[in-house]
Amino acid sequence: MNVSEAIKTRRSVRHYRPDAIPDDVLGRVVGLMRLAPSSRNRQPWKFVVVRDKTTREHLAAVCTYRRRSGEVRIQRFVEEAPVVVVACGFEDQANVFYKGDGRLAIAPGAEVAAGTGETITDAQSTLLVDLASAFSHLMLAAMEEGIGTCWVMGVDEERVKAILGIPADARAPMLMTLSYPAPETGRATRKSLDEIICHERFG
Ligand SMILES: Cc1cc2nc3c(=O)[nH]c(=O)nc-3n(C[C@H](O)[C@H](O)[C@H](O)COP(=O)(O)O)c2cc1C
Repeated sequence: MNVSEAIKTRRSVRHYRPDAIPDDVLGRVVGLMRLAPSSRNRQPWKFVVVRDKTTREHLAAVCTYRRRSGEVRIQRFVEEAPVVVVACGFEDQANVFYKGDGRLAIAPGAEVAAGTGETITDAQSTLLVDLASAFSHLMLAAMEEGIGTCWVMGVDEERVKAILGIPADARAPMLMTLSYPAPETGRATRKSLDEIICHERFG
């Protein structure tokens, strides 16, 4: 499968065949995720691959979303996927941009330039973007193996961390289910190119 085919045929998969994902297949998929770019090549991440059914059940219980009515729903499909990959991120390893003038900085609170006394208050970590970069690779690499994915950010991060023993100072803002998809109809639509592309200047 080439990249354009993978992009065109991918969809979020929430209904699965029960088949396990063989180790060698999973190894190839996470091996490609490893090659994802991150800001300054910091790779401020670690990924927990969960296959254990009980752990998946515990994770599903803390994957919730709130409907417009206010009702909170559990994302049950998470426990049914044979593999769940949880992305962990470390703010102290991620790159930080100082928004004032785009200079690279070490961390919020650091001095803008040695001896100036001016400290960085308006800094932006690339951590979430880096994790999204890895997950985009994971999603497309899975396609080549016939594996479907669903990216899940509706998670109770602190409870995910408690379930998996993730250190308190780490983030765990998203997970991805991996599974062999059951036949499904329908595909999410997209805005038209006209709506999302403009040329030379915003308009
Ligand atoms: C950052 C991010 C977070 C998402 N979180 C959830 C989620 O918590 N639960 C879920 O069922 N789908 C989640 N999705 C999947 C989107 O709903 C889905 O990608 C979108 O509706 C487009 O559908 P498609 O992936 O089938 O093209 C998430 C996707 C992204 C990129």
